[in-house]
Amino acid sequence: MILNITCIPGDGIGPEIVTQAKKVLEKVASKYGHEMRFTDILMGGASIDACGEPLTDEAIATAKAADAVLMGSIGGNTSTSPWYKLPPEKRPEAGLLKIRKALNLFANLRPAYLYEELAAACPLKEEISKAGFDMLIMRELTGGLYFGERKTVEENGELKAIDTLTYSESEIRRIAIKGFEIARKRRKKVTSVDKANVLDSSRLWRKVVNEVAENYPDVTVEHMLVDNCAMQLVKDPAQFDVILTENMFGDILSDEASMVTGSIGMLSSASLNDSKFGLYEPSHGSAPDIAGQDIANPIATVLSAAMMLRYSFDLDKEADAIENAVRQVLKDGYRTGDIYSAGTTKVGCNEMGDLLCERI
Ligand code: IPM
Ligand code: MG
Repeated sequence: MILNITCIPGDGIGPEIVTQAKKVLEKVASKYGHEMRFTDILMGGASIDACGEPLTDEAIATAKAADAVLMGSIGGNTSTSPWYKLPPEKRPEAGLLKIRKALNLFANLRPAYLYEELAAACPLKEEISKAGFDMLIMRELTGGLYFGERKTVEENGELKAIDTLTYSESEIRRIAIKGFEIARKRRKKVTSVDKANVLDSSRLWRKVVNEVAENYPDVTVEHMLVDNCAMQLVKDPAQFDVILTENMFGDILSDEASMVTGSIGMLSSASLNDSKFGLYEPSHGSAPDIAGQDIANPIATVLSAAMMLRYSFDLDKEADAIENAVRQVLKDGYRTGDIYSAGTTKVGCNEMGDLLCERI
């Protein structure tokens, strides 16, 4: 099979970790008889520096023409980088929001999983973490507060800022369907998270989720208020399978869930449209403080590449090979600095890539 993949190395540690993911993909390709065709595009700060804007229309066209997009990370230090002196719509993050909308990537899958080998990194009390956890946050990605009308006006001699939170039934229905479909392939439980005790958009969310749930009698559905969910994530994370939620709640809860694993450098993500197309990226950011030092953890990006093989190309065997290589490398005691503990072997970004390739 020929796989046409657009890569966005991006900023900070992005280029280093994408290089490792490409290396692992090439290894998979040679083992299973595929051909990887990579095309790089610029996004974020790299694109601002080269083209004066965080994402050009040509870059979007290149991404659209591919089968899938593999991204590293974008953005820089928000207090020191000159990119953050620009107006908001010209900053690195605007490129990310633009590509999500342009490619209609409404379904954002963010797994949070406690690796047995890394259980010690989990910040929760052992009596909680010993149960383990394996959840997937299904975050709506192209609606809500992120894409509603916003403005700042002057009223009665003071500034007033307005952000609007809108959701239509069809926007809720399509993400709910994705949530239930994926739950069917997992432990068959959906926790839909909202703020239905206050927000109209959440009341509509709950109504539509209940309607969709009727078509999935084999999947258990429960509703949870977002503030309670934030508590439950640290109190009893094992209760969750699929967490289905809107854009802003998903942004916040997914950071919390990743922190609870203690190893954000291990967490992948996928952003999908309604066909097989997707953008795959690590859950972590661009870590500008450690960029270019060959110490970043490439595993989240490598696992995002595995998600890409699974969701965009239906190459399950190949995806399994990558995930097994990650497990094996941990079993063999190799760690990048972020997940290092006494008694294990510390390796750099490039060496971690090589060790993974050896295990494919
Ligand atoms: C994320 C990030 C983005 C978001 C930012 C960089 C715009 O936090 O992917 O979670 O808020 O969606
Ligand atoms: Mg976020």
